[in-house]
Amino acid sequence: METRSFGKTGRSFPILSFGGQRIVDAHQCTEDEAIRIVNTAIDRGIRYFDTAWVYSDGQAETRLGKVVKHRRAEMWIATKTWETSCEGALRQLETSLKRLQTDYVNEWRLHNVWDFARLDAFTRKGGALEAAIRARDEGMVRHISISCHTDPQILIEALNRFPFDSTLIALSALDHFILSFAEEFLPVANAKGVATIAMKVLGLGSLRHEVERSLRYAFGLPVSTVIVGMESMAQLEQNLAVAESFTPMPDAERLAFFKDIMPLVRPEKMPWKATDWDKPAEWVPRHRGR
Ligand SMILES: NC(=O)c1ccc[n+]([C@@H]2O[C@H](COP(=O)([O-])OP(=O)(O)OC[C@H]3O[C@@H](n4cnc5c(N)ncnc54)[C@H](OP(=O)(O)O)[C@@H]3O)[C@@H](O)[C@H]2O)c1
Repeated sequence: METRSFGKTGRSFPILSFGGQRIVDAHQCTEDEAIRIVNTAIDRGIRYFDTAWVYSDGQAETRLGKVVKHRRAEMWIATKTWETSCEGALRQLETSLKRLQTDYVNEWRLHNVWDFARLDAFTRKGGALEAAIRARDEGMVRHISISCHTDPQILIEALNRFPFDSTLIALSALDHFILSFAEEFLPVANAKGVATIAMKVLGLGSLRHEVERSLRYAFGLPVSTVIVGMESMAQLEQNLAVAESFTPMPDAERLAFFKDIMPLVRPEKMPWKATDWDKPAEWVPRHRGR
């Protein structure tokens, strides 16, 4: 698999990485199967694993931890805090580390900054960003990150406030023309040397009938790596096959892909976007340029 550098961290990762939200009962994945999928992912070269405190009441982190316990050195672990206060975030980190059976995470993310009020809450005095800096000073966290899937302007503002090491952003082909992280955010992040991780690449399943083109679209963007939420061996195998044989999409092919999926570019098919994106501009309080 092609590998790419991960911002200024000195690390490189294969283009396909593992979204760990779905290795849970709620997605019909048993614990044994989850462990088998994660072990196979490592055996096949995947190194980057994303999870979060909030996923399935801890089941996602706990299951990942059952592999981390044996293969820590082979895995880059990114988890997240949902809590915006410093003390609350530190409590979540403590729980995450126990579930993950490790004493540090490679990356800790401020989770799902869906609007400017939540960004303010994370970055205020006494907010979770303080927890992240403290945890990094104490060695529990190696790199500080932030995630957003609603509006690229929120993350541009986040980078103005703090030198985050990485950003996890919505980069499906469905997103390409609407509040576009590809058009608005990637150039800013890349100019600053901030690592970028693509998510929502299969549109939360809206693009499950277009796996190959969806993944090739995302791999073709100037991103550090792409996480895909996988919940079965069959999905892992299919996604690996696309990643291992990746060639960039020529412009004509990309255009044909956009045309085919355009009917899906609708708010109900893209619940992760800012809910007001389909309203006329004068109705939309997007705080652009703030
Ligand atoms: N704000 C945040 O920070 C945030 C939010 C959400 C997720 N995440 C992270 O991002 C990861 C990726 O999730 P996402 O939300 O971006 O969703 P996604 O990757 O766009 O979609 C994941 C879904 O796509 C389907 N899928 C995957 N591989 C497939 C294949 N080969 N064939 C057919 N279907 C396939 C599966 O759904 P079905 O089996 O149901 O079809 C899977 O559950 C998550 O695991 C999580 O780690 C982060």
